[in-house]
Amino acid sequence: MKLDIYIEKNTMKYEVIIKNALIQNLSEEIRNVYTGKKIAVLTDENIFELYGSKLESSLHEQFYISFIVIKPGENSKTLNVLEFVYAKLSEYNIQRSDLIIAFGGGVVGDLTGFAASTYLRGIDYIQIPTSLIAQTDSCIGGKTAVNLTQGKNLAGSFYHPKAVLIDTDFLLTLSDKHIKDGMGEIIKYACIKDLSLFQILMNIKSKQDLFEDIEEIVHTCLSIKKQLIESDEKDNGMRMLLNFGHTIGHAIEKYSGFQIAHGEAVSAGMLIITKNSERIGYTEIGTYEKLKAVLDNFNIQYNLDDYNKEEIKKYILSDKKNLNNNINLILLKKIGESFVRNVPINLIDEFITP
Ligand SMILES: NC(=O)c1ccc[n+]([C@@H]2O[C@H](COP(=O)([O-])OP(=O)(O)OC[C@H]3O[C@@H](n4cnc5c(N)ncnc54)[C@H](O)[C@@H]3O)[C@@H](O)[C@H]2O)c1
Repeated sequence: MKLDIYIEKNTMKYEVIIKNALIQNLSEEIRNVYTGKKIAVLTDENIFELYGSKLESSLHEQFYISFIVIKPGENSKTLNVLEFVYAKLSEYNIQRSDLIIAFGGGVVGDLTGFAASTYLRGIDYIQIPTSLIAQTDSCIGGKTAVNLTQGKNLAGSFYHPKAVLIDTDFLLTLSDKHIKDGMGEIIKYACIKDLSLFQILMNIKSKQDLFEDIEEIVHTCLSIKKQLIESDEKDNGMRMLLNFGHTIGHAIEKYSGFQIAHGEAVSAGMLIITKNSERIGYTEIGTYEKLKAVLDNFNIQYNLDDYNKEEIKKYILSDKKNLNNNINLILLKKIGESFVRNVPINLIDEFITP
């Protein structure tokens, strides 16, 4: 399956290829966008161990490959690790005309994108995403970032890859925890824009069912994101719909010291906001129960008694998206339809009570 992502007011585009066993044809796909020889591949230790040699053997006939391997997980999205990446790019003598590949989950993707956008004032890069979050979400849209001690994703840039190459077979080795994290995001896409995706998700009864439909699901999610980012590249309008569940979810993640998984926190965020917006009258009655049912279908935990309104509020008020004493909340009209509601901060309690 293919998708073209148009950027910069339709003057440029990059291609997304979604296919199982794509790793065998990577050289051909890379050749479509890169005529040089040298490639630096940024990845983490888990991916390197699982797929490093496979990637190298797929590419070594046509390219000269150097790996930059970082520790897995969010703690690697830092300025320190970025500096390590710059040092490696310099050690490998990577020039402006060379290529960088982001080979891993969202952490590798965000960090690589930022390194590529800044090293030598910008080097082309390609995304080869391997986690469910990366394949359905972070690989397109061009948001790159590292975290600062002051907060998540606070330093970054908009910098688009030259191509996105998605081999869904990589997902077979993903842990159940990270599959659930990805499912949280996929459920979000269905809720904000796609009732038929929601129905597909309700019919998935096993991991085998999920993997049978996975190419279609990845394609659907990226098609939804494509629509939103093409109309709002810099995240000032419709792209904000992608934040459904995330304002409360990020607050929960932070105040739990990142002990509550991202997927769980976002799921709780989607439920809390929907429970309240249904009570206030913005959301069709029954939507909250449907959302609970789809989360149950994927065994995603959401005991709302575990969450504390005051803690959520404290973190929401310190959020960078919270401008001029108003906050943009994403609400569902019903499953498959969403909208942005600008709410004064003094009314926030009504929307965030678990
Ligand atoms: N740029 C964007 O638009 C955007 C969008 C959503 C999320 N994000 C970012 O993405 C990050 C979260 O993404 P993530 O969950 O992929 O994080 P991650 O990169 O830390 O990956 C999660 C874990 O899964 C492992 N993993 C990845 N692929 C695997 C595979 N095929 N087999 C086995 N293990 C595998 C990784 O080694 C890691 O331990 C966050 O930093 C978030 O801010 C960015």
